[in-house]
Amino acid sequence: MNSEMIEEITVLSGKNRSGEPENFDEIIIRPGDTLSIVGPTGSGKSAFITDIEIFARNDTATGRTILVNGEHPPEDYIRDPAKKPVALITQNTKCLADLKVHEFLEMHIKSRRIAETELTGKTIDLANEFTGEKIHPDVKMTALSGGQTRSLMVADAITISDTPLILLDEVENAGIFKDRVIETLKEYNKALIFVTHDPMVSLMSDRRIVMKNGGVSGVLEPNGREDEALLKVIELDRIMCRMREQIRAGEMICGQVFT
Ligand SMILES: Nc1ncnc2c1ncn2[C@@H]1O[C@H](COP(=O)(O)OP(=O)(O)O)[C@@H](O)[C@H]1O
Ligand SMILES: [Mg+2]
Repeated sequence: MNSEMIEEITVLSGKNRSGEPENFDEIIIRPGDTLSIVGPTGSGKSAFITDIEIFARNDTATGRTILVNGEHPPEDYIRDPAKKPVALITQNTKCLADLKVHEFLEMHIKSRRIAETELTGKTIDLANEFTGEKIHPDVKMTALSGGQTRSLMVADAITISDTPLILLDEVENAGIFKDRVIETLKEYNKALIFVTHDPMVSLMSDRRIVMKNGGVSGVLEPNGREDEALLKVIELDRIMCRMREQIRAGEMICGQVFT
């Protein structure tokens, strides 16, 4: 079984911090799905995606089990980073490698024995669609900003690691265009799980997993009922982005701005 053959990842429910069963039986994630995980700090959001990342088998604090195509996944998925079908990107994802961006990507491409020659440029171009601060191939990895690093890691996960599932743990307000990330992952038919407090990301997701006291307290499937709110939040986001760019460029913002 390789990662291209992943049709679904299933989360089987466990228990919350008080030992009570979670409020779902199973959550099935398929290519192209976007889920967000919401809930207060300490409610178990990171634990939920960590269970997926490590393919929990009723062996973590939550008691959840993760299946791939309905079965326990093979050991390589857990042990071999090159075979792992899941990429986890967090606020703290950093690259300590003392390499230039293009050298880092070339090393990664080589380690995966990929023959495609254009992949370095393709990955940087994709990363640059996710961030307003353009990444130059000759810059050192350690010199990238947080937003540039996360953009590059998402692009790398899409093009080089080519994992079918990408997990993002609270990377909002961190210099990436979330709507572009979501659209691109859908285009590439990747599944995405976003731990988030961001209204736009939550409203753009197909499903919203609500966490409470270490367990899932509900799974919301708006199916279009939130479209009005989504349009509003997209409009507001556009205004915010424009203002941010104007302020960064040293401009004053006077007069009519809500257009
Ligand atoms: N179902 C659970 N049972 C026991 N401990 C849990 C459970 N879910 C989460 N925890 C623990 O609670 C703490 C907070 O959870 P975490 O996932 O970091 O919250 P969040 O990301 O929402 O802030 C962590 O130490 C985590 O291991
Ligand atoms: Mg967390």
